[in-house]
Amino acid sequence: MNYENIYIEEENNIATITINRPKKLNALNKRTISELHTAFKELDEDDEIRVIIVTGSGEKAFVAGADISEFADFSVKEGRKLAAEGQEILFDFVENLSTPVIAAVNGFALGGGLELAMSSHFRIASDNAKMGLPEVSLGVIPGYGGTQRLPQLVGKGRAMEIIMTAGMITADQALQYGLVNHVVPQEELLPLSLKIASRISNNSPVAIKYAIKAVNAGFKYDVNGYATEIDAFGTCFGTNDFKEGTSAFLEKRKADFPGS
Ligand code: COA
Repeated sequence: MNYENIYIEEENNIATITINRPKKLNALNKRTISELHTAFKELDEDDEIRVIIVTGSGEKAFVAGADISEFADFSVKEGRKLAAEGQEILFDFVENLSTPVIAAVNGFALGGGLELAMSSHFRIASDNAKMGLPEVSLGVIPGYGGTQRLPQLVGKGRAMEIIMTAGMITADQALQYGLVNHVVPQEELLPLSLKIASRISNNSPVAIKYAIKAVNAGFKYDVNGYATEIDAFGTCFGTNDFKEGTSAFLEKRKADFPGS
């Protein structure tokens, strides 16, 4: 696929996807969502890629939301379809990806932007970042999973306040709430993200895939997280990564995981 609105850089088994519509503060239009789906899918299928970082271009915005100009005249039916399709191809898709996804939040992360960051497995922010779900100020509610994932991350009361006020929280508040894991000056955002990604990339990709599955299972209403963990734990014993990891430990050497 020829990408218009994103670009991808790869280095040392880590891929960085940059959303690149800076004049529109990287707002997620239909094409960008489709490009992101393709990029995440292809990178997930690439055995060489062990971690994916997603960020926004420029110094001002990660993503300032879904592209309001595209849905301003939508009907009820079209509104439902927009949310359902977006959740399926991007937000749920990212959350359930086998490859770890880190959101490097480099500025405004609003509406769909914060929802994309929350779908990622964890978040790191620059100190100028501002986060919020401003949808009720537009007469709509978050539709890309925000009403579900924000309470999971910050608790129901804080999520209710953020959603109802349509306000923005600072990077430091987000850190205090547990919405982001680290806050650093903007120039340190990608270096720190790469450093953490590099640490992750040394570990078993198969075990990480099952860890993601087990953690996510605890947040699904129709799956038992503990049962998922037991099953995934057992499955690991049949993998080459487990043989390599345990052999390397016993032989006092660094593991070189085959990823199978
Ligand atoms: N959808 C479409 N276009 C958007 C956008 C969005 N979510 N967010 C920003 N843009 C566009 C603006 O329309 C503007 O385009 P223009 O130059 O062609 O007029 C451009 O990006 C720059 O934004 P601007 O508003 O001029 O920047 P600012 O620094 O004054 O304000 C924000 C920044 C983020 C506070 C403001 O852009 C904003 O409130 N955006 C919408 C946030 C939102 O409600 N998101 C949830 C959508 S569901």
